[in-house]
Amino acid sequence: MRVFVTGGTGLIGTRLLGQLRARGDDVALLTRRPDAVRAQFSGCTIVPGDPMQAGAWMDTIADCDAVIHLAGENIFARRWNDEFRALLRDSRVKSTENVVQALGKHPRTQAGQPKVLVNASAIGYYGPTGDEELTEDSPPGNDTLARVCVEWENAARRAETHGVRVALVRVGVVLDGEGGALPKMLTPFKLFVGGKVGSGKQYVSWIHRDDMVGLLILVLDNASATGPINGTAPNPVTNTELSKAIGCALHRPSFMPTPAFGLRVMLGEVAEVVTTGQRVLPKRALALGFTFKFPSIDAALTDILA
Ligand SMILES: NC(=O)c1ccc[n+]([C@@H]2O[C@H](COP(=O)([O-])OP(=O)(O)OC[C@H]3O[C@@H](n4cnc5c(N)ncnc54)[C@H](OP(=O)(O)O)[C@@H]3O)[C@@H](O)[C@H]2O)c1
Repeated sequence: MRVFVTGGTGLIGTRLLGQLRARGDDVALLTRRPDAVRAQFSGCTIVPGDPMQAGAWMDTIADCDAVIHLAGENIFARRWNDEFRALLRDSRVKSTENVVQALGKHPRTQAGQPKVLVNASAIGYYGPTGDEELTEDSPPGNDTLARVCVEWENAARRAETHGVRVALVRVGVVLDGEGGALPKMLTPFKLFVGGKVGSGKQYVSWIHRDDMVGLLILVLDNASATGPINGTAPNPVTNTELSKAIGCALHRPSFMPTPAFGLRVMLGEVAEVVTTGQRVLPKRALALGFTFKFPSIDAALTDILA
């Protein structure tokens, strides 16, 4: 299969590309930094371009069977202001519009089959919802991230009008020792000052990096995978439970709380992502037959931190 990937140089994409290449797929990798990443991704066709800007990169989608669209400005990259909120939105929504426009010109593979768009979304779609159990059928929230996710998913779904199969993977908190949220969470534990954040009652809907990649590949391959699919492990935990599990895995204490107020002063609005949460269940992934290699937080952390 020839797969066009945006955001493939990121945390999830880097591991995903390794798996796609290992099983023999041809990968065309769109990046804004072709010279910086060429050596690292030598097995891929490097396509220079910014997904937010329409351009020649869109022609490459004509020869591909599938698109996996992961690009998006990192929500923790900066303190949020109006300009950054617009970038969070545009790097997802405008880029998706460009991908869909390109797919619209060539919606079928050379063999005449419908192409597939696997579009990242996020569990932020649901907004802060306490301990309510959420599935793909739950309604969207109304905070900044939820509104971005709704626009992002709607933009992707427009590819369905061209006959493209569209899957929207609502990514949870991806646990990976080399990037993303986990290394930041580990620092206070390594300094013997780790513990719950805020009340500790907020849910963290996490997923092990390998399960994230495995689920994206299942969704890519499975013709029944359409619409929203939660990318989270079947056993979300409260922040207190996560802190205890990290303390255990690192053999460090986990009783020093970080007050929500302090985090808000330090990070601004994005602190809400950490101090509130969602309890998301992977109903569709399980219905599609996905087997989680790491369904429990203890096993996931032991594997990653070993
Ligand atoms: N990791 C998580 O825990 C998590 C949780 C929920 C949702 N997600 C979503 O899943 C997707 C992939 O996540 P990730 O953690 O792998 O992302 P990531 O590491 O932050 O990287 C995503 C890639 O997107 C591209 N990108 C970044 N800013 C951009 C911008 N302003 N305009 C255009 N492209 C930009 C970059 O590629 P180039 O520099 O090569 O162009 C970057 O390597 C993202 O859309 C993210 O929102 C991730």
